[in-house]
Amino acid sequence: MATLTVLGSINVDHVMQVAAFPRPGQTIEAQHYQVIGGGKGANQAVAAARLGGQVAMIGCIGDDPIGAQLTREFAANGLDVSAITTVPGEATGLAMIYVDDKGENSIGIWPGANGCLSPQLALAHRELIEQSQLLLMQLETPIDTLIEAAAIAKGANTRVVLNPAPAKALPEALLHHVDIITPNETEAEQLTGIAVNTLTDADHAAQALHQRFGIDLVLITMGKRGVWLSQGGQGQLLAGFEVKAVDTTAAGDTFNGGFVTALLEGQSIIDAVAFGQAAAAMSVTRVGAQSSIPTRDEAQALINTRSSL
Ligand code: RIB
Ligand code: NA
Repeated sequence: MATLTVLGSINVDHVMQVAAFPRPGQTIEAQHYQVIGGGKGANQAVAAARLGGQVAMIGCIGDDPIGAQLTREFAANGLDVSAITTVPGEATGLAMIYVDDKGENSIGIWPGANGCLSPQLALAHRELIEQSQLLLMQLETPIDTLIEAAAIAKGANTRVVLNPAPAKALPEALLHHVDIITPNETEAEQLTGIAVNTLTDADHAAQALHQRFGIDLVLITMGKRGVWLSQGGQGQLLAGFEVKAVDTTAAGDTFNGGFVTALLEGQSIIDAVAFGQAAAAMSVTRVGAQSSIPTRDEAQALINTRSSL
């Protein structure tokens, strides 16, 4: 039985490594090209599974060979794929990704079958959500479905974790059901109207998320600076691990998958954040989304470097 259910997107990522992003009207030749499993939902599910979690995924693929291949890769990672639906006549979701020599990315996505993840499909998997300890979601699939799934979870004491990415305005009907939220600076601003540059800004944005929507735990991911943790009126910055960035794609996804996995094991919130940060740091040193997610041993090895200091 799954302890964690991830509801979200499944994409195939077409990744080109370039010296610099193409400007309007410019054609450039990539240094390297790869087709890699991606999609925020699938990345978070694969991260949790690879890092030791018991995970099921609710999502949609197209009726194309790549959708079938991605599903086989999920199963090979130990994911429960029984709640992944194949949509006839649709293509599997797709992302076109440029990665420059600083490891930054620029991404365009075509939702394809992800747009077919309907509220009915959330209802069809009601039992899975109810029996899970935690439901993790992002914003690359229809919002109505997230509201439905969150309502089911709430009725069954399943904890709801929302990674509000990519940035989008969200209805209160969703936010009121959320127990833990994990925006980056841009997403926090989108939700609160408070621009997040300094730690004081992060604190204000977190207070707004607590007060307006009753969200218990707020984690604002602040890139290299670390994670702003806010709970019960108290905030603190948790510094991350320093690594050389090769490709930051899916760093946030890996953080989310690692964090919830550690939380479900009963680790403290601070330790769970550190575990997510270590896993995310490892992922930044490698190319691609799912290809870059570390194993549990790799993440643990990085944490151990800290404890031995
Ligand atoms: O968060 C990274 C992901 O965003 C990529 O894998 C891409 O598919 C887009 O969904
Ligand atoms: Na990466």
